[in-house]
Amino acid sequence: MKKIFGLLIASASLAVASIDAHAQAPSDIPAEMNTLMTKYTCIACHRPNQRLVGPAYADVAKKKYSTEEIVNLIYNPIPAHWPGYPPMAPMKQVPKEDAVKLATWINSLDGSPAKKAGSGKGKSKSKKA
Ligand code: HEC
Repeated sequence: MKKIFGLLIASASLAVASIDAHAQAPSDIPAEMNTLMTKYTCIACHRPNQRLVGPAYADVAKKKYSTEEIVNLIYNPIPAHWPGYPPMAPMKQVPKEDAVKLATWINSLDGSPAKKAGSGKGKSKSKKA
């Protein structure tokens, strides 16, 4: 348990260090979301279309949570949802308003043509838009 936590910190600080080096938002993150993700450190562990320490937000969006459910999961993560990942710490410092913005954006990523390396499952779900 301790070991996992140490690893988590290590990879998080690694990610932060590399962000520092680039100081540029990845192009698939809108400026406002980049600001929030940086402010609340989400960006150390999450990307829209790429697994880092945490799951890609596009994969979170595929779970079809409501915005409110995502907000709750930001405050009270349920690690059992993501086997194979370390547990996310509750991010209670995020004000509700900002959590809603992040959650709304995360949900909007479903169906964006995430280029996936590997895992060819869940390709196209029937959906009416
Ligand atoms: C230190 C790394 C780390 C940080 C910082 C972090 N997360 Fe996570 N996040 C994870 C990991 C790992 C998971 C998967 C395991 C889990 O849910 O506990 C996850 C899961 C999630 C999920 C999916 C929840 C579910 O149950 O499906 C959402 C949504 C999410 N994070 C949003 C955020 C937001 C928004 C922030 C910033 C306010 C943030 N995370 C900050 C590591 C992180």
